[in-house]
Order: sequence, then structure tokens, then C-alpha cells
Amino acid sequence: MSGDLKWNKIMGAALATAFVVIGVQQVTGAIYHTEAPEKMGYFVDAPEEAAGGAAEAVLPPDWGTVLPTADLAAGEAAFARCQACHTVNAGGANGTGPNLYGVVGGPVMHAAGFAYSDAMAAHKAEAPTWTYDQLDQFLTAPGRHVPGTKMSFAGIRDTQTRINLIAWLRSQGSGGFAVPAPDPARQPGAAAPAEAAPAEAPAPGSEQAAAQAGGAAGSAPDTGPAAQSTTQATPAAPSAATSGNHSPR
Ligand code: HEC
Repeated sequence: MSGDLKWNKIMGAALATAFVVIGVQQVTGAIYHTEAPEKMGYFVDAPEEAAGGAAEAVLPPDWGTVLPTADLAAGEAAFARCQACHTVNAGGANGTGPNLYGVVGGPVMHAAGFAYSDAMAAHKAEAPTWTYDQLDQFLTAPGRHVPGTKMSFAGIRDTQTRINLIAWLRSQGSGGFAVPAPDPARQPGAAAPAEAAPAEAPAPGSEQAAAQAGGAAGSAPDTGPAAQSTTQATPAAPSAATSGNHSPR
């Protein structure tokens, strides 16, 4: 009899505790009502930095191949991000940034009456024309391609988006800027033979050879312990990767 009573008390206490816990949850839920954000986290529109300068190893787009197949509508949509600062219609006003009509293939600092930065003037001295490659590199990371530019825009990291955008920009007053013929040296898989050309082959065991071996392997950075160990590991002959199809036999 006393045992039953003891269990009643225990069960009662457990139930009471459960009610209290549930009650507290309900009340705090009502007070601290949280809604899931529509977009999770921050979207940072910054180009991806490949480690150890591997970015330089990536082939530039083969404009003769990619421009004719570019998605102009997607390019126009991508221009929405530029419109805060740029007009692109013929004779359009300069805003925070210069009007962009005819900029593809045009001279750097092409818009009359716009106060360009000194950085852009310095860039013009080195690369006077907005070629496809120049535009592509600028739009990938404006501040890296033209250090000190006053175009405060992080860049577009997606290559296809840049291709579409450049193709659409070309349709805005730059139709006369020719699309080059497809370039076999820029086709996927063309990198290795071009880099391992016999005439320019670096001395075996040199830092350059090690770097190229690393590049061919697609992993080792130019500097750092991995590259150093590669140099030490292959003192005599270039690796199979560097000699490629130029075998001495
Ligand atoms: C926050 C404002 C801003 C945004 C957004 C912006 N730009 Fe610019 N852009 C500028 C400014 C300012 C300059 C002039 C840079 C200088 O003088 O250093 C410029 C310069 C340029 C130039 C060089 C023009 C010339 O005459 O040499 C090009 C090309 C360009 N922008 C394209 C774009 C594209 C394409 C986008 C969208 C992907 C974009 N910009 C987004 C402000 C902006």
C-alpha cells in the first residue's frame, strides 16, 4: 500500500515536471518568435582565390567558341548588377560609372566627360583596349585587375555569367568588334602540350620545372613545402608529366 503511494508520488512529480517544461517552451516560443531568413547567411560576391597562383593556370575562355553560343538574355539579366552605376544605351548619361555603350573592343576610358581614376589611366597606359580577355579579367575582380579602380564592385566569379554578359555588352554598340576564330590552344586539354613545348622546356630540376610539374599534377602550389619537396625529389630528370608526349625516344 505504501509502495503504491510512493509510485503515485513519483509519477505525479514526473508529470508535473513535464507540464512545466512544455509550458516554458510554449511561453518562450511566444516571446522569442524567430522566423527563418529567406536567404541564409551573407552572399559575398567575391571571386574565388585559388591557392598558390593556380588561377593563372586556368585557360582564358576561347572567345571564338563561347561568344557565338552565349546566352544573351542571361547576359542582359546579369547587367542588372551593373545598372546601379552604368547606363549602356547610345548617348546614355554617365552616372557613378561611365556609360558603357560600345565599350567592348573600345578604348579604356572610352566615355567622354567621365572622371576616371588615376588607376584606370595607369591601366590604359599598359592595356589601352577593352579586349574580350581584358574585360573578362576586369569583371572577374575589378580591384585586382586595375588596383585602385574606383569601380567598387567585387566581381563576377562565374565564368559563364561573364561570357554571357560580355556577349550581351558587345550587342550594345560593339557589334563591329570581331569575334576571333576558335583558338585550338584554348580548347580544354590544350594546356599541357603548349606549356611543355620542347624549345621552352626548363632545365630539369629547376624551380620552373618543379612548378610546371606541380601545375600538370593540378595540385601543388608554386611555393611552399610541397613545391620544395618536389624539387628535391626530382633532381635529375623532368617527370613524365612535364615531358608529356615529347618523349626522347
Ligand atoms: C558601384 C558602382 C559600379 C558598379 C556596380 C559597376 N561599375 Fe563599372 N565602373 C564604375 C566606375 C566608378 C568606373 C570607373 C572606374 C575608374 O575610373 O577607376 C567603372 C568602369 C567600368 C568599365 C571601364 C569603362 C571605360 O570606359 O574604360 C567597365 C567596362 C565597367 N565599369 C563595366 C561594368 C560592368 C559590366 C558592371 C556589372 C557587372 C559594372 N561595371 C558594375 C562603377 C561601377
